Amino acid sequence: MLGRLNHIAIAVPDLEAATALYRDTLGAKVSAPQALAEHGVTVVFVSLPNTKVELLAPLGEASPIAAFLERNPAGGIHHICYEVADILAVRDRLRAEGKRVLGDGEPKIGAHGKPVLFLHPKDFGGTLVELEQA
Ligand code: CO
Repeated sequence: MLGRLNHIAIAVPDLEAATALYRDTLGAKVSAPQALAEHGVTVVFVSLPNTKVELLAPLGEASPIAAFLERNPAGGIHHICYEVADILAVRDRLRAEGKRVLGDGEPKIGAHGKPVLFLHPKDFGGTLVELEQA
């Protein structure tokens, strides 16, 4: 059911500082910032040979990562994203197993222009899981 690791997301309080850290200190390739109003975050992607790291900063008043950053003021690992071939089939199978899908359960379009869903951390080993249809 699970495909490749698409990215690991790190919430950061200061996207410019985090970009400089990855680009200048660590020497990685970092994308331009992308504002995702529907998700309440601004993201940049750090490209690695085998996967990506997504750096997330809050966007707007009701950002879903605001509370996370209150609990973790220096930032921290926020979620992990796995690729799936058929996101609706995976969602229905997980729901049938009693697993919780966040929001209204309808996929939203994520940072890569592809449908994404988030799964409840309490049902997945204490980790917020994002599924992306690849
Ligand atoms: Co993500």
